[in-house]
Amino acid sequence: HPSLVPQAGLGRDSVEVLGQSYPRDDFTNVTPKILAKVGCNLHNQQHHPLWLIKERIKAHFYSSFTSRWGNPIFSVHDNLSPVVTVEQNFDSLLIPPDHPSRKRGDNYYLNRTTMLRAHTSAHQRELVKSGLDAFLLAGDVYRRDEIDSSHYPVFHQMEGVRLFSNHELFSQVKGGQNLSLLERGGKRTPQKQETHTLEAVKLVEFDLKQTLTRLVTHLFGQDVEVRWVDCYFPFTHPSFEMEVRFQGDWLEVLGCGVMEQELLNSAGAGHKLGWAFGLGLERLAMVLYGIPDIRLFWSRDQRFLKQFRVQDVQQRVCFQPLSKFPPLHNDISFWLPEIKESEAGRESFTQNDFYDLVRSIGGELVEKVALVDDFTHPKTGRRSHCYRIIYRHMERTLTQEEVRLVHEQIERAAEEELGVQGRY
Ligand code: FA5
Ligand code: MG
Repeated sequence: HPSLVPQAGLGRDSVEVLGQSYPRDDFTNVTPKILAKVGCNLHNQQHHPLWLIKERIKAHFYSSFTSRWGNPIFSVHDNLSPVVTVEQNFDSLLIPPDHPSRKRGDNYYLNRTTMLRAHTSAHQRELVKSGLDAFLLAGDVYRRDEIDSSHYPVFHQMEGVRLFSNHELFSQVKGGQNLSLLERGGKRTPQKQETHTLEAVKLVEFDLKQTLTRLVTHLFGQDVEVRWVDCYFPFTHPSFEMEVRFQGDWLEVLGCGVMEQELLNSAGAGHKLGWAFGLGLERLAMVLYGIPDIRLFWSRDQRFLKQFRVQDVQQRVCFQPLSKFPPLHNDISFWLPEIKESEAGRESFTQNDFYDLVRSIGGELVEKVALVDDFTHPKTGRRSHCYRIIYRHMERTLTQEEVRLVHEQIERAAEEELGVQGRY
């Protein structure tokens, strides 16, 4: 009987995802709209632009990195479940228990111990533990975030990891047999971790940056302008972001760094050094093909999809943007719930709660939600927010009437679910 097949959805006591049931608790915050995206695996749909980018990256790594016998060094994993434990997504990466990235307001939790992965790094430790020295991993990731043309709560990342033994790192270096990867009693500096030798780190960092520069040169051509920005991740040190010049601006496309040795120790690879990177597939595809809006990746419109039907993954794609249909906007203002004494310290309303609510009602009709006014009443101290919602359909012109209906639904749901008081 078809109804016996578990569907993605929210029950009263449990959440069903990919045929598994997870008990709900006070942390559960996934929405039906988000659950409906789990299992879509756009990165595995043949000829989808995200698939195409993934295939081009795979092909590049397969042909550029081969063993002495000619077989590829990197293995590729693109079918790992996006449902991970909180331990995998955070603890395994040395992210401290009180780190702000764990916030309920920023992630989709199935319950206190299980979540939709917020990055593909969640699988680093398990894949290293399974004995892999070099791998790529592509998958869908989930974050509660603002809404605009470059942010969507589901996007796709490609992770890369490469480990080096003493021999692999130093065998090409003259006199390399006298060098070591690790040292005792060293200090952590901006350049390196305490247990690493400077010569080992510099070689790993050089290999990482060269690998990624070659990758984007392969994707974008010789003329691409790239720059490195120092940054911080709890699971790499030193850490960098790569930015690519796009339409006169610098756009961040990936984060990377030298893997924390403690992570490798916990994965049973403590005698090696490694680098890791995580790149956004949508970001690359938007630059590469000139795709103007991140929502287009979810379009089923053949006028969009057919443009990526190439015979060979290396064939050039000339994307013709679909004509944009006119937007309609509508504002919504409300008083935020007052924070009671007993709940002090606990956020009673977060902007992401509202963004999620707008998404779950407005879906693909919503192009952007922006806070346009944040007002505190001088006498009562009450606070109100005004948001502007831009409605636009990718494939047709919206009518005032259909936008009004959706907007009214949002107004009602905001009052009922978020405890705000409408000023409509
Ligand atoms: C991370 O997710 C780290 N896990 C990356 C990493 C891996 C660092 C391995 C070190 C070692 P970040 O949150 O910056 O980092 O995201 C990485 C990339 O994903 C970004 O550079 C961007 O290309 C893409 N990305 C991030 N947020 C979004 C979003 N909301 N929409 C689309 N793409 C995004
Ligand atoms: Mg970043």
